[in-house]
Amino acid sequence: MNRFWVDRVAGLKPYVPGEQPASVSLVKLNTNEHALPPSTAVLDAIRAIEGDVLRRYPDPTAASLRNAIANAESLSVEQVFVGNGSDEVLAHLWLGFLSERSVQTLDTTYGFYPVWARLYGSDLIEVPLLSDFSVDLDALKASADAIVLANPNAPTGLALSKKEIESLVVANRNRLVVIDEAYYGFGAESAAPLVPEYDNLIITRSLSKSHALAGLRVGYALAQPELIEGLNRVKDSFNSYPLDAIAQAAAVAAVEDSTWLQQASAVVAESRQVMAEGLGELGFEVLPSQANFMFVRHHQIPGARLFDELRAKDILVRRWDHARISEWLRVSVGTQAQAEQLLHAVREISRTHIS
Ligand SMILES: Cc1ncc(COP(=O)(O)O)c(C=O)c1O
Repeated sequence: MNRFWVDRVAGLKPYVPGEQPASVSLVKLNTNEHALPPSTAVLDAIRAIEGDVLRRYPDPTAASLRNAIANAESLSVEQVFVGNGSDEVLAHLWLGFLSERSVQTLDTTYGFYPVWARLYGSDLIEVPLLSDFSVDLDALKASADAIVLANPNAPTGLALSKKEIESLVVANRNRLVVIDEAYYGFGAESAAPLVPEYDNLIITRSLSKSHALAGLRVGYALAQPELIEGLNRVKDSFNSYPLDAIAQAAAVAAVEDSTWLQQASAVVAESRQVMAEGLGELGFEVLPSQANFMFVRHHQIPGARLFDELRAKDILVRRWDHARISEWLRVSVGTQAQAEQLLHAVREISRTHIS
């Protein structure tokens, strides 16, 4: 606390991201970065940037990127908003559409939602997941408040179908439904095809996971033009140039390389399967994930102990000290070599713990 801080800042409880260690020798399975490097087309686009492009301000409307996304999603450019990571898109969305309002989300979901709710004065209602971590759709349908859902959910990896999302959207056309598809591209159905039909649906996406570009900071939203216009009003009252020229050019190349997306997603799905089977054989319960991470619990070894022992073996995973999930670990899907290192480490830990 400092005497110059305003009350709103003094009362903040900021989001704490996963550790980004300087050492590259760690097996880093804690922040759901993609297992593979990005498309070479992205690196080529970055290398092709000339000095004059950097001398000028970037396009404040990011028209080329919005066009590329619109083409990929069969939407119009007026239905696309882009920002500096989907966190920024979500923050603008929260300020523009959810501040000072009642908002429903889940009791086990992305940890940034309560932070924005507090920052923007929303009344956040956390609807409990059912005992198997599935979403209680009836409970969500019964209320008039705006809904914010991550789909697939984080950290569980479980996904709702497009039909289930649609049932939430049609249950009350005067309620905004926000679907955070940060983990798009790893097997879950997207709600994007519903955008032209419903003016109370907004979808956010990220290039961080699906396109292996967490370091580039590009996210976007898909919605009908009036919602997009609302986001532009917020953005242009905050920072006209959230995406630099390099990020815009690289993101266009990423979005246009649909072959890379398909191939890379297939590699992740296969690796996820191998990791899930391996962990299952070592005594873990593994939730069926449609994301590039898995939520797992060992039947005998306590979560906190497993987390610490993996950390001591230079393997980073994520764990939260929340009562409902304290025995669970979220493990990003890594390369085959990383999967082998993880399984080897768990085998050693099991041996000392169980014998
Ligand atoms: C559910 C969810 N939404 C949004 C984000 C933000 O992604 P980014 O800001 O990298 O686009 C994350 C990142 O971990 C996430 O897990």
